[in-house]
Amino acid sequence: MEQLKIRGRARGPHGTLTVPGDKSISHRAIILGALAEGFTEISGWLRAEDCQRTLEAIRTLGVEVEGRKGEPLRIYGKGLHGLREPADVLDCGNSGTTIRLLAGVLAGQPFLSVLTGDVSLRRRPMDRIVVPLRQMGAAIWGRVQDTLPPLAVRGGALRGITYRTPVPSAQVKSAVLLAGLFADDPTTVIEPAASRDHTERMFEAYGQRVERSELAVTVVPSGTLQAKRVSVPGDFSSAAFFLVAGLILPDSDLTLEGVGVNPTRTGLLDVLQAMGGDVQVLSVDESAGEPRARLRVRSSYLKGINIGGDLIPRLIDEIPVLAVAAACAEGKTAIRDAAELRVKESDRIRAIATELSRMGVRTEELKDGLIIHGVHGLRGACCQSLGDHRVAMALTVAGLRAGGETTVIDTACISTSFPGFVEILQSLFPDSLERNG
Ligand code: S3P
Repeated sequence: MEQLKIRGRARGPHGTLTVPGDKSISHRAIILGALAEGFTEISGWLRAEDCQRTLEAIRTLGVEVEGRKGEPLRIYGKGLHGLREPADVLDCGNSGTTIRLLAGVLAGQPFLSVLTGDVSLRRRPMDRIVVPLRQMGAAIWGRVQDTLPPLAVRGGALRGITYRTPVPSAQVKSAVLLAGLFADDPTTVIEPAASRDHTERMFEAYGQRVERSELAVTVVPSGTLQAKRVSVPGDFSSAAFFLVAGLILPDSDLTLEGVGVNPTRTGLLDVLQAMGGDVQVLSVDESAGEPRARLRVRSSYLKGINIGGDLIPRLIDEIPVLAVAAACAEGKTAIRDAAELRVKESDRIRAIATELSRMGVRTEELKDGLIIHGVHGLRGACCQSLGDHRVAMALTVAGLRAGGETTVIDTACISTSFPGFVEILQSLFPDSLERNG
């Protein structure tokens, strides 16, 4: 099994780097490209395993795609009604975004599709999409009373609905909105708190109008999407690991170029700044309806903080690395209203609490979050990623700050979202990182 050995007490990273393309935006650009009329070109897309799963699935659905390394992705869209019945099961690997968004698209197709994934994905709740897609008229089944993958979808004529999601979830919202493209009248999703809005922005980029208010979005199906040139910004969730490394290591001054700063994703920036972190947002521009910026981070003295409420969906994927910042802060950090963490790639509340405690951090697990007591000296330890990419990367950052050596076991999962993570760290911290196995 692959593992990383990290020599601790690293000193501050300097220089400028770019992170790979945004995962959420890449999935959406690929899916809408497949459904659009004509030729779509996507530059800066994330060539990671999760997005490759989406790409492979649309190939199996009969869409021609060219994706040579180092070149933009080219998709020859089939239009909304040009997909063909897949001759095999669609394997979504570790990717929740792939299975849930594709289920929305397949709900509108007059054929049978079966979607599955790896052992982690097959434990993740799917009733959250089965319920609204059935209301729209799709036939959809899953294991364990239709709650778990594999999913079987037989789509067809759909009706527009108004659906109130019980939890804020961009994947659920997007599944329903994508199905809404095939409905005979408008579809509205209303959320309890705003989740990331990349689908809404990407719909508009592909010429599909959406009506939006703070917590509601309506798609009035126009019957066609127009092919597009899309340039994907860097992934804020990948940048997050370097933002925290920059803050907690001494003598850092690091600049990250071209990072997506969609406000539905940048809750971590607000929190790190409120903790006393020196993170600056410089020179914002825009591409395909998404803002991007240069970020500069310098070593900082951090204080603990309380977070919860509507902020949580804006930083849900960053909580593992935020916990590392909290472990290095003065005082206590409490994270609440984050029960969703229990149904991510791993139970991230349990994972963070257990693995940080191996490094000498006092943690308290709550039903919907955790409390982290900052320590003066993190201790190098042998930790487990639990097959979760963000846990693996967060622990690696913690290992750079810890005294002594840290081993993170089971790190191949990092490539689901961030190929090149280890190589970038090796260039910033020569001699601090060794990959084995
Ligand atoms: C994602 C939405 C979020 C996030 C996930 C990616 C997306 O999940 O945690 O990593 O691309 O739509 P939820 O939909 O469960 O909030």
